[in-house]
Amino acid sequence: MNALPAAAGVGVRLAGAGTALPDRVLTNDDLAALVDTNDQWITQRTGIKTRHIASNGTTTCSLAADSLRAALEDAGMQPRELDMVLLATMTAEMSCPSTAARVVHEVGATPAGAMDITAACSGFVYGLNHAETLIRSGHYKTVAVIGAETLSKITNYEDRGTCILFGDGAGAAILTADDDASRGCLAQTMRSDGSLWGELYVPRTADDLPESHDGFNGRFNTLQMNGQEVFKFAVNTTQAIIEETLQKAGVTAEDLAVVIPHQSNRRILELVKKRMDLPDDKMVINIDKYGNTSAASVPLCLHDKRVAGELKEGDLALFVAIGGGMCWTTSLWKL
Ligand code: UT7
Repeated sequence: MNALPAAAGVGVRLAGAGTALPDRVLTNDDLAALVDTNDQWITQRTGIKTRHIASNGTTTCSLAADSLRAALEDAGMQPRELDMVLLATMTAEMSCPSTAARVVHEVGATPAGAMDITAACSGFVYGLNHAETLIRSGHYKTVAVIGAETLSKITNYEDRGTCILFGDGAGAAILTADDDASRGCLAQTMRSDGSLWGELYVPRTADDLPESHDGFNGRFNTLQMNGQEVFKFAVNTTQAIIEETLQKAGVTAEDLAVVIPHQSNRRILELVKKRMDLPDDKMVINIDKYGNTSAASVPLCLHDKRVAGELKEGDLALFVAIGGGMCWTTSLWKL
């Protein structure tokens, strides 16, 4: 597959970013009171120290709306300037309506278009690629992409293999048309392999279980994961798609200002960093604070970098994510 040529005259810029996190924080010691685990094991195997957990009526919808309000404020824009809201989540409020439609209403952006994206941890980066293409087409001027999750509602807090990893939160980005056509996505990938669906899934009933029930943690409507297989797949595939994307765009890892990866496990990211010989400050890692927040992790990183004043106009930023499906994706931007 080749990189799409930029449509004449239309560039895309990141106008704003925002986040929302539930107040309640769950530490590793808190988890050690629930399951047979400890701070040392969790820190060494995952890099996670704390994660935020939704309570008191905080929902995927409310977190998404709060993050979008923050991103609009950062962009200096009004809700009615939005043409479309894409909401990446694996913890939508329900299958119909989309959570995105409710968020559009909540923030006062009606009648902007609204759509949920279901690509698990890859959802936000899939969303960036779709939003960029909508804007470059000339049909839409301003599109918000949100990654929002309340993974705590699909986590079995008796399964130590999964409950230590996940956290709740949301992040949003506002993308808008720009006169400089060189700005925006330079190269991207969006891939899937459904033969691997049983490595990471949320079964509703016994009918949803794979033929071999190996690894089922005994509780429906909670996340089931073959951690070791996902780990190996993530390390190999992340490196491969980063290299493929750089090649498509005709740039090298040295040209990148920053790599913003899905926060799956610190060890996965450190391995990719080492194999690719990336300097420490080039890859954003904030999993210690938030855990694995699936679709929300990339925009949480983007926001942290932006707030720190470490992203400049013209910088090359590479977004990359891998998750359930299996789905994997990259988006290489000239900011
Ligand atoms: O977001 C994208 C999707 N998810 C991921 O990317 C996650 C990818 N996978 C992982 O992050 C890791 O596989 C885990 C963190 C889930 C697990 O780490 P691991 O190093 O792969 O551990 P393991 O499953 O191989 O287990 C090693 C040992 C086992 O004990 P034995 O059999 O060696 O005696 C486990 O029972 O560690 C035990 N163990 C634990 N011990 C203390 C598993 N979970 C825990 C725990 N605390 N929480």
